[in-house]
Amino acid sequence: MRIAVIPGDGIGQEVISAALRVLARIGDVVDGGIRCDVFDWGADKWLAESVGLPEGSLEVLRHEYDAILLGAFGDPRIPDMAHGRDILLGLRRGLDLCVNYRPVPLQGGSLDVYRENTQGLYVGVGGTVCVGNTAQVAIDECVYTRDTVERFMQYCLADLRRRGRARVTLVHKSNAVPNTGGLWQDVFRRELGRLPGLEGTEEYVDAFCYHLIRDPTRYEGVVTSNLFGDIVSDIGAALMGGLGLAASASINPETGFGLFEPVHGSAPDIAGTGAANPYGALMCVVLLLRHFGLETVANTLHSSLSEAVGTRAATPDVGGTGTTSAFTDEVLCRLN
Ligand code: NAI
Ligand code: MG
Repeated sequence: MRIAVIPGDGIGQEVISAALRVLARIGDVVDGGIRCDVFDWGADKWLAESVGLPEGSLEVLRHEYDAILLGAFGDPRIPDMAHGRDILLGLRRGLDLCVNYRPVPLQGGSLDVYRENTQGLYVGVGGTVCVGNTAQVAIDECVYTRDTVERFMQYCLADLRRRGRARVTLVHKSNAVPNTGGLWQDVFRRELGRLPGLEGTEEYVDAFCYHLIRDPTRYEGVVTSNLFGDIVSDIGAALMGGLGLAASASINPETGFGLFEPVHGSAPDIAGTGAANPYGALMCVVLLLRHFGLETVANTLHSSLSEAVGTRAATPDVGGTGTTSAFTDEVLCRLN
């Protein structure tokens, strides 16, 4: 397995060095080993060389790697996050990673959230005129193509079936946003019709958020568009106990190429203090191993993580007194 590792900025570097320690250990027991190559893309390179995603890197990633493990971007010296957008959006669009998967473990169950990751309101189509005066007009268009919604839906529904799920909910707002909303409903119904055994329901995003917070165990799987998915998955992170725990995988449904990253940002408020929780980044390693069929070692790492997070070595954000490296030690000693 060949992994391109992009630590990024702030605590991204700290949690990824924890992940590299764990991967080095796991590589010893995986057939053919795990090759990790580290890329220094991020704020320092942007400021020194004006380079975000370097020329030609998409080709290199596509041909020489199976997956990317990414920390986070964000640096107070670059307030508009220009470098982060260049790299992250470049990777998501350039590698066509249209499925963003976020598992939400809950007391009494778990929820799988799938967010479309490349289109919708985030396509960057629009404009502003008369900036600053009362005549100002600002437009952001929501764009979906049937092709993308279909590829997204086919992957997600099949993935839910693989995970043994019985129910899936489409989260939409087609009463107020009928064009893209209608396309999503049509594709959802058609694709469900081809997959007997998976029961589908449709909910408006506002009602869905209300129910999700009151009783998340109502849901098993959720498929939704880019903007709604962005918001819903952060509610998911809150429900599971904090940003430091949440992990995500962005997948190209045709090639299976995956970008695995914790959900949190670069957390400049705690960078360098040792307080960064590496759980989300280590959970990304679990998702990565599962994605490549290494169930047994993924399950071992997952249970080590669950045990370690209940000890004093856990980081302060989840009630412990430990540090990034103390928690990682606790995980590693359980892997023996
Ligand atoms: P953030 O996720 O970095 O931090 C939010 C709060 O959660 C902070 O108080 C932080 O200390 C805490 N936190 C986050 N991750 C943690 C962890 N692993 N362990 C313990 N505590 C943790 O979001 P914020 O502060 O809004 O953004 C900071 C920078 O990160 C900004 O530049 C932002 O643009 C960027 N960002 C980047 C993302 C990415 O690369 N995917 C995602 C979100 C934000
Ligand atoms: Mg978000």
